Amino acid sequence: MISPKHVAIIMDGNGRWGLKKKNSRNYGHKQGLKAVEKIITAAIKNNTKYLTLFVFSTENWKRPIKEINYLFYLLSNYIDKKINNLIKKKIKIKIIGNIRQFPSNLKSKIKKVEKLTKFNSKIQINMALNYGSRQELISAINKLKKKSLIINELNINNNLYTKGIPDPEILIRTGNTNRISNFLTWQCIYSEIFFVKKMWPDFNEKDYEMIIKKFKKINRNFGGLND
Ligand code: IPE
Ligand code: IPE
Ligand code: MG
Repeated sequence: MISPKHVAIIMDGNGRWGLKKKNSRNYGHKQGLKAVEKIITAAIKNNTKYLTLFVFSTENWKRPIKEINYLFYLLSNYIDKKINNLIKKKIKIKIIGNIRQFPSNLKSKIKKVEKLTKFNSKIQINMALNYGSRQELISAINKLKKKSLIINELNINNNLYTKGIPDPEILIRTGNTNRISNFLTWQCIYSEIFFVKKMWPDFNEKDYEMIIKKFKKINRNFGGLND
């Protein structure tokens, strides 16, 4: 009956949701951001300590530039509007992924929000930006090579973007799609995976709570035997 410390979410289905509402894919992204706010609240309520959100994958550069720019605009606007609130609510923001290719003004905003929330302790939100598991693993191995460290589990863990963060007990994917899409494959080897039919903008606090409730009933063996 232990509450999960770390919940990771693949927030999928924004585009389809927007089109279904006879609007644009970007409209879906805008509404998706509202769901993000709801779920952060739900996570705090449920005592989640780390919430990892897949915002932009290393493969999402394949999308039309108009959509990519709109996602960057939403993120930039979100930081501007919410930074004080994040500080007030003691929320820590951490980026996982490689933001080197992001527009420079957005990069500085991201760095600023990370710096200003660094010592907050209510909850840590890991925002996966230009994140891909394979890219993360390659970068970790390169770091080991540079430091002349041997390749073992501990050294790899300590050189991933998620260094110091426990593995997610729960992985949620909305959007009625049952795949991992290059997200946290190293970290999720024993995560309980919940594929949700709802598109991300429709995912709400109750859905989150229901998953936590179901999780608490699962017997987790980690390769051992049931007790
Ligand atoms: C997920 O929603 C959000 C991002 C990738 C930024 P999608 O944009 O993938 O929405 P669908 O899956 O096309 O509906
Ligand atoms: C995964 O969704 C990435 C994010 C939610 C940020 P995608 O929509 O990019 O995944 P695929 O392409 O359907 O696998
Ligand atoms: Mg998608």
